[in-house]
Amino acid sequence: MRVLVTGGAGYIGSVTAEALQAAGHEVWILDNLSRGHRSAVPPGSPLLQADVRDREGVADVLRRERIDCVMHFCAASLVGESMEKPGVYFDNNVIGMIQLLQAMVDAGTAGIIFSSSAATYGEPERIPIPEEHPVRPTNPYGESKVISETLLSWFHRVHGVRYAALRYFNAAGAAERLGEDHTPETHLIPLALAAAAGTGAPLPIFGRDYLTPDGTCIRDYIHVLDLADAHIRALERLETLEEHTFNLGNGEGYSVLEVVKTVERVTGSPVPVREAPRRPGDPARLVASADRAQRRLGWSPARPQLETIVADAWSWMQRHPHGYGD
Ligand code: UFG
Repeated sequence: MRVLVTGGAGYIGSVTAEALQAAGHEVWILDNLSRGHRSAVPPGSPLLQADVRDREGVADVLRRERIDCVMHFCAASLVGESMEKPGVYFDNNVIGMIQLLQAMVDAGTAGIIFSSSAATYGEPERIPIPEEHPVRPTNPYGESKVISETLLSWFHRVHGVRYAALRYFNAAGAAERLGEDHTPETHLIPLALAAAAGTGAPLPIFGRDYLTPDGTCIRDYIHVLDLADAHIRALERLETLEEHTFNLGNGEGYSVLEVVKTVERVTGSPVPVREAPRRPGDPARLVASADRAQRRLGWSPARPQLETIVADAWSWMQRHPHGYGD
């Protein structure tokens, strides 16, 4: 198929673009490079440097390249930052989604696979979280994803746009050539690895008084290559999907302190830590039930162990000590 990957110079977008190529699809990348990296774009895929909010520009690309499906990754995606700058999140993520969907209708593009998030659920009532669980986000980032899913469902009903919304839990790990390089970096695993390597500051532990066994937040870490695989499965089944939202996680939760211990085992070095207050907007626990993705997409993670996820991130970081260097 002919696929336009928005945010294809970013972390999950670039890994998925490369996996799409390997699966035999033709891939175009649309990215404004505000956070992405030119060198992450897989060779062989044209980079269109544009903003997804440019409805006419996007519609032109969709028409000209006869795109069958859009994979929409580009978004502002930091929970903490969204609590400081909600306007940026609604502008990028919600206006971006409206303009993209309008461009798809203008151009007659059939389908879209959307990067949604576990942040849609907010503080869950039960663990593991199934897709039918109420969505009550605790931060503007999660809210922007809920609104985007609502927009998708209406464009599906009214215009027949086919879609899947994939609710990622905590993406981590790396591919051979591609890994995680954010500026600023705020994610737990890369920060813990940098602290262990001595290239980063001591790791702040954001809150030790959560209602969890060791008092730190629990998350479900999922390998970025497993996320990429789920996208390809969704793409290949998009015409016949009866359900549209899918959790992508391992169904196993690890606390911040358990992640720190794993980083210490993988690197062979201690992780210097410091105590810090809770980070606003953080739910205590997020763990997926991914049964629906297994049943409907035939997906199950090939790299479920936290140790493998951390080891792949560490290996990439050692090979790219300055990230993409741009
Ligand atoms: N944490 C620390 N110290 C740090 C960084 C993080 O203690 O320096 C803690 C956080 O408080 C949280 C956990 O580690 O409890 C994971 O934090 P991340 O920042 O790595 O990830 P988030 O859970 O905040 O968010 C990520 C993505 C979101 C996505 C979400 C879904 O960034 O886009 O996972 O669970 F929505």
